[in-house]
Parts: sequence; structure tokens; C-alpha cells
Amino acid sequence: MMGTKRAAVTGWPVDQSRSPIIHGYWLDKLGIDGSYERIAVEPSNAEAFYRSFCDTGLTGCNVTVPHKETAALACDWLDPVALAMGAANTLWLSEDGKLCGANTDGLGFLANLDQVQPGWDSNKNSAIVLGAGGAARAIVWSLLHRGFRAVHIVNRTVEKALQLRDEFGAKTTAHGFGTFVELLGTADLLVNTTALGMTGKPPLNLDLAKLPKNTLVTDIVYVPLETELLRTARLRGNRTVNGLGMLLHQAVPGFERWFGQRPVVDQTLYDLIVTDL
Ligand code: ATR
Repeated sequence: MMGTKRAAVTGWPVDQSRSPIIHGYWLDKLGIDGSYERIAVEPSNAEAFYRSFCDTGLTGCNVTVPHKETAALACDWLDPVALAMGAANTLWLSEDGKLCGANTDGLGFLANLDQVQPGWDSNKNSAIVLGAGGAARAIVWSLLHRGFRAVHIVNRTVEKALQLRDEFGAKTTAHGFGTFVELLGTADLLVNTTALGMTGKPPLNLDLAKLPKNTLVTDIVYVPLETELLRTARLRGNRTVNGLGMLLHQAVPGFERWFGQRPVVDQTLYDLIVTDL
């Protein structure tokens, strides 16, 4: 007889992670004999932890900051996205004990927009991505994968935007904040992937005057749910999507791997996380 399957979120720190609430909700709803815990993995111990994952007794785990790259390096197999990113946020053991890794951030971003703004990608000419960190890399990948013709990467440190441009090739361009306003007029999508706008950080003060009214504006920040960027965009008539749905959707593939059933992101789950923010 199979015992209770155990999964976890691993990172440093993990106290702030909402993943236990998400997976706990699905386990309960689907009546699955499983558990999902928090495991704090000290940076000095991270490589050893993922390399000896078989010994943990876990069926798989999520990986959060700052271990996504270390986890990817420890994997025996990576899905094409994790391979391209050099970072994994979802791990599982295969039947023959091999550690497998996936990166579900980009697909989670797309799946959320598909659910809450059906047809959002009917125009795929141009997207603007603010930021050039790990989240930006996943989202640029996802937009190119979805067929956007041009993705403009805008970052405070232009060198990092240039690095991403070199990585992703001719459909991407790199800019600093000082020069990107001209791009706004042709954008079908504007995404903030920086931490700006998060509670405790300065807001992202952008002049959106040149942004067309039909541009979709999204943020990966979800505390607060409506950032200054989203509020400004909504008040001028743009459609907006906050970052919470991406968090919920990136969790779906892991749950399905570990517990064998594909969960649904529903309103009850969304409301449950909102009450915890
Ligand atoms: P993540 O992996 O979550 O994307 P990250 O790699 O630390 O996190 O990236 C953070 C992003 O937010 C970067 O694009 C960063 O810009 P820099 O590359 O110039 O550091 C951006 N960011 C953070 N604080 C910022 C600030 N005060 N002003 C402008 N950009 C900021």
C-alpha cells in the first residue's frame, strides 16, 4: 500500500510562502491522502539537499528564491523551459529515482491570462516587460513561446536587459527606463516583473499617457493586489490583471505530478489567498 505522499516548498526563507495554503486547499478539495509542508533550506546546504533529494522522503517539491538555479543543476532531467531558464521551480522523482525539474512560472503567467482575460493575445505585435531578473526571463520566454512578434525588455540596469536580449535573440530589444516611453504607443501588453509597487517598496511611477486604451496591463506583484501601476492603468480605462493568478497557476503542474490529479484554480482558492494577504 502506498503511504501518504509528501510534497513541500523549499527555499530560504519559506515562512512567507503561500504555497502550503494553495496545495492544502487542493488536497482537501480533491480528498487526496497527501501533505504539503515548508522546508527552509539554508543556502550553504542547498546543493547537498537537492543532490540527495531521494533521502528526504518527499515525492517532489517547489523551489523558491534563492535556490531555483541550484535545484536545476542538481536535476538529472529538465523540461525544455527549465533547461532554457537554467532554473527550476518544480521538482519530482521519477519512478526510477531520477530527480526531474520543470519551470512553470512562464506557463503559469500565460494560463492565468487565458483564464481571466480570454482572447487577451488576439493581438501579439508587441509586449513591454519591465525588469530583467528571473521573473522577467520566464515571462519573456512565455511571450515568445505564445508568438509575440516583439518583446521589449526595460530595466534600470540596461546591461541586464541587454543580456536577456542576447539570450532570446532578434525578437527582443533592450531599453532603460529613460527611453522606453516611445514604445508604449504600440504595446498590446505591459508587464511589471520588478518588485516596485510591492508593499514596502517605492511605486513604479510611469507616465502612461501614450499607452493605448486597449493595452492589457499586468503586474506580477500581488501584495498589494492592486499596485499603483494597475490603479493608474485601470483609472484611465485599461484592462488590468494582478499577480495573484500567476502564483496560483504556476502551482498546478507540480500538484498534478505529485498527487496525480490536475487541480483547478477557482474563485474560492483565490478568495482564500486574498484573506491571507
Ligand atoms: P526576480 O528573480 O524576482 O525577478 P531579481 O532577479 O532580483 O528578482 O530582479 C529584480 C528586478 O527588479 C530587476 O529587474 C531590478 O532591476 P536591476 O536589474 O536594475 O536591479 C528591478 N528592481 C528592483 N528594485 C528596483 C528599483 N528600486 N528601481 C528599479 N528597478 C528595480
